[in-house]
Amino acid sequence: MKPVKVGLLGLGTVGGGTFNVLRRNALEIARRAGRGIEITKAAARDYDPAGLPGIEAITVSDDAFAVVDDPEIDIIVELIGGYEPARELVLKAIASGKHVVTANKALIATHGNEIFAAAQKQGVMVAFEAAVAGGIPIIKAVREGLSANRIEWIAGIINGTGNFILTEMRDKGRDFADVLSEAQKLGYAEADPTFDVEGIDAAHKLAILASIAFGIPLQFDKVYTEGIGHITRDDVSYAEQLGYSIKHLGMTRRTEKGVELRVHPTLIPDRRLIANVDGVMNAVLVKADAVGPTLYYGAGAGAEPTASAVVADLVDVARTLTVDPENRVPHLAFQPDALSDLPILPMQEVVTAYYLRLCALDRPGVMADITRILGDQAISIEALIQKEPLEGQSQVPVILLTREVREQQMNEAIQQIELLDSVQGKVTRIRMEHLSSN
Ligand code: HSE
Repeated sequence: MKPVKVGLLGLGTVGGGTFNVLRRNALEIARRAGRGIEITKAAARDYDPAGLPGIEAITVSDDAFAVVDDPEIDIIVELIGGYEPARELVLKAIASGKHVVTANKALIATHGNEIFAAAQKQGVMVAFEAAVAGGIPIIKAVREGLSANRIEWIAGIINGTGNFILTEMRDKGRDFADVLSEAQKLGYAEADPTFDVEGIDAAHKLAILASIAFGIPLQFDKVYTEGIGHITRDDVSYAEQLGYSIKHLGMTRRTEKGVELRVHPTLIPDRRLIANVDGVMNAVLVKADAVGPTLYYGAGAGAEPTASAVVADLVDVARTLTVDPENRVPHLAFQPDALSDLPILPMQEVVTAYYLRLCALDRPGVMADITRILGDQAISIEALIQKEPLEGQSQVPVILLTREVREQQMNEAIQQIELLDSVQGKVTRIRMEHLSSN
């Protein structure tokens, strides 16, 4: 059978990795796909040919639209990233009957509904395994492997850069900025690294996971997002003393009132496997009714791990090119006319436990004031520690773990605690998830 012809847009970290993996494993890949998969054209503004042996055999231009327009090409692989011109290129490829493989989570999370509708109309595939959790085949696992189940919740460490930063801060006491700059050099971080540290990248991925888990349209704009910039080394160490790890977690849960959709730093009990996922590694814990909890672990960023997912999508497209378009795996796991309109829960309605850290004056009655405020909001305390005063200061750090409460009540309690004369500055609040499978 004739090889499938691929046009590659982007020769950066993931584009370069994809080129190298496809070339190095060409024979093995052809044995799996049933035919060869050949990159015949690529577009890149600037790339380093030294890291791409064999690149001279294909045409590389700086005109991505010309690659999309090439009638010889069957599949466009979009690895440019960002919203535009990626969206325009993908829609153009679809309009001209080409299949698309992309690693672009920002694009899928924000324009996926439009892109999938266009692809459905044209009868072409849009595959995006590499958009979530890098090399972990989580889209396939949730969309196909778990299709017998009613999925209850998903908790994921889905940003490698953020997890790398938190791990290095904890294990080596390194500075935030210093670790971030290393993550950039290693090719883990987004072009705009605030996407990593502010949780936007994780929110993109979570929106995609929630859609395929619950059969709802993509709703990135409804994801509550909080970054890791305010987490201090002290928070990491206090959490450790209490038996918890702080992870930047994406959490989506189906409740009777709606779907929780949130990304924020989270305390997780140390005994959970997911609490021990360190460095650039990602992990996704899925709780489903029939199978129970399943955990997927692997490299969440980097050239070849992400290329592994891109190439797997290429193999999938090559295998299904002859299948009836109506019978392909639906983009969002559920048939397009069977998506549900479950509401997304406002953050104030979410129920979680909390870690609170505050700085209080070391004088009688302070603790009573704080616990009274929590009591008035029906917030029950699970643990409370008061540390030694900081050197030369009269204030003491106080750390509290609470039981589960509605976010709205916690907001009110924090507001009142911050108004106390005896409490200095802001209260640091980190949500906690016990992630118990019962
Ligand atoms: N910047 C992303 C991360 C890359 O660190 O996880 C993979 O999506």
